Order: sequence, then C-alpha cells, then structure tokens
Amino acid sequence: MKESIEKALNEQIEKEEYSSRFYLAAAIWCESNGYPGSASFLYGHADEERMHMLKLVHFVVDRGGQVTLENVKKPTQNFNSLAEVFTLIRDHEKFITESINNLYGLTINEKDYTTGNFLQWYISEQIEEESLFNTILDKIKLVGDSSASLFHIDKELESLGTTGAAGN
Ligand code: FEO
Repeated sequence: MKESIEKALNEQIEKEEYSSRFYLAAAIWCESNGYPGSASFLYGHADEERMHMLKLVHFVVDRGGQVTLENVKKPTQNFNSLAEVFTLIRDHEKFITESINNLYGLTINEKDYTTGNFLQWYISEQIEEESLFNTILDKIKLVGDSSASLFHIDKELESLGTTGAAGN
C-alpha cells in the first residue's frame, strides 16, 4: 500500500473514531435532557461509527499496512437544543462525506483501484446518512420547539434507531 494512501486511511480511521465519540456525547446530552428516544438512536449510531472505523482498520491490516492510532479530540458536550444536536450532526456528516470523496479522489490519482473499490461502501453509506439526518432535522424544524411535538419526534427516533440498527 502506498504511503499516501496509508496516511489518508489512517486519517479517516481517526475521523470515524471521532464520529463515534461525537455521537456518544450527543446521546449523553439527549439522555440527560429528557430525550430518551434520541439518546437510544444516537447510542446505536455511535456503535455504527465504531464499525465504520473497524472496517477501515481491518482493510489496512489485511493489506499489510500500518494502523497508527492517533489522539482523538474531545467532542463538544454542550448543546442548547435537540435542533442544535441534529444540526451539528448533519454538518458533521457533510464533512465526513467530503473526506471520503477526497480519499476516493486520492485512490484514483494513485491508481489504487483496490482501495477505491473498498471505499464504494462508504460512498453509499454517506448518501444514506446525509439523507437520514436531513430528514430528521427537517422534522424537528417543522414541529418547532413545543414540548409536545418534540416528545413525539423523540418517540419516532427511538423506533428509527431500532429499524436503523437492523438495516445496517
Ligand atoms: Fe461514518 Fe456517519 O459516517
């Protein structure tokens, strides 16, 4: 594996690990602020992000590369509302999509088609994730900040977490 590809894959491993911690922080905030359904959904998503990280780890190891575990920065734990939680998550997913696209671009430049092929899974996954979080955010914005409406959204997110976990 070329050094440039190995380095970029390690950077992506760090980003996925950060994603898992970020979702964990968001889940903890939701659980502490009366949104148990959102918390359950986000705890589940933190596990999914860890799976994204591990998939990259196994790929690097299988190809004889070196995994360099870097320090992962501390995510914010201060949120003001459920809308803010999901706005930050949606923005984070856009950042991850850009990162995956850049990584894919690098594999093309380096003619590393095996890694490019491997990254196809992440490209599809990012389409799903951005769509999912855009939908959730649209719903939250639509209902405004009345407690009754947010209670229903929270319930809905709980079931989404269950079906989402089954679908992945
Ligand atoms: Fe691993 Fe949510 O992207």
